[in-house]
Amino acid sequence: MNYIKIRQNNLCIENISTLKLAKKYKTPFYCYSVSQLKNNYYALAQAFQSIKPIICFSVKSNSNLALLKELKKIGSGADVVSIGELLKALKAGIKPKKIVFSGIGKTEEELRLAIKKQILLINIESENELNLINKISKKFYKKIPIGIRLNPNVTGKTHRKISTGGKDEKFGLSYNDFVNLCKKIKKMRNLSLEGVSVHIGSQITSIEPFKKVLSVLNKIINKTKVNFKFIDLGGGMGISYSPNEKQINLKVYAKLVNKFLKDKKSKVIFEPGRFIIGNAAILISRIIYIKKNNNKKYIILDAGMNNLMRPALYNAHHEIIPLKIKNKKLKGNFEFVGPVCESSDKFSKIQKFSQVVEGDFVALANVGAYGMSLSSNYNSRPIIAEIMVHGSKHKIIRKRQSLENLVNN
Ligand code: LLP
Repeated sequence: MNYIKIRQNNLCIENISTLKLAKKYKTPFYCYSVSQLKNNYYALAQAFQSIKPIICFSVKSNSNLALLKELKKIGSGADVVSIGELLKALKAGIKPKKIVFSGIGKTEEELRLAIKKQILLINIESENELNLINKISKKFYKKIPIGIRLNPNVTGKTHRKISTGGKDEKFGLSYNDFVNLCKKIKKMRNLSLEGVSVHIGSQITSIEPFKKVLSVLNKIINKTKVNFKFIDLGGGMGISYSPNEKQINLKVYAKLVNKFLKDKKSKVIFEPGRFIIGNAAILISRIIYIKKNNNKKYIILDAGMNNLMRPALYNAHHEIIPLKIKNKKLKGNFEFVGPVCESSDKFSKIQKFSQVVEGDFVALANVGAYGMSLSSNYNSRPIIAEIMVHGSKHKIIRKRQSLENLVNN
């Protein structure tokens, strides 16, 4: 089901014309569809319904409090990687027993809070982190549940910069270190080894890497002989960013996981970010100028790489859609760019587009994940607003940063 689509030549989000929103709110702004968000969550839950996994939304993909509250309402947990994310998840009302904490550099302050709040799992990524938790744990009367993150030496077949499962990456523990650490934890009286976790990368659209990971997990579980209460399979499920890109086939993935779980009593945890929120938002922007330089024409938007970093950072493609589609077409060598003083502040090249003029609005699609959360004040540009749409209703869920606030810091 698609809640952001063109109806009678107008781009609509749920029951609202985006043009109406663009005229009401100051551009650029992020605009979310709550129904799309929920639809994606349910699609994932549905695909894996026979194993009823714990779905921990990956807060790094989007940490807007109102959106986290919507996810909490439908049963989501949270995957967090910092004290800030942990506090936000708790503030959204997510129960500590539905929160997992990953990351290679958790500080003592972060670990203490996670332990105090009694979250579901702290996924440790090194022996030194384990020693620190063990030291802290002595002051607590309860055993602290921990997981260990395995580096499965499987690459996610995705963009180099968002692959985490290869042996040359900083994440997780190698096969041998993992086995040795399991033995060590068994002897620690204040810790209980409850989970194994993996996450091999993001935007994975083929099933092969997941298949390989499950086979490595089988091997290591047999080797360590630990009855893990939880198997945290991470996130990484890819979505479709363009018509020729397929999203991950959840049915096939679910079949593999079902088979993998046959001889186990473990509960599966997923940490999806992009799959839940990626296609639930657009970034609405106004065309400031159309400029010709040599034989190219630049369509200069008021949104730049500080608002949406993915194209500059990963060469990521985000479709650009005019809010109002005209029959007349623009033809030639055009490029959509932002106003930021960096030559990498480019969004996409086009040969043919609906006729647009200065002052018209466009939307960058599929920006819900790692859009706002990667944004910055670069070039002293304010953090922009976020708008949430549900049915025919819309409201601000993050106010645009004021210039006063911007200049005072
Ligand atoms: N779990 C762990 C341990 C992770 O490191 C990540 C993402 C996730 C879960 C969620 O992955 P997802 O389901 O969203 O693929 N900024 C990049 C993506 C970085 C992903 C970092 N880790 C981008 O814009 O593509």
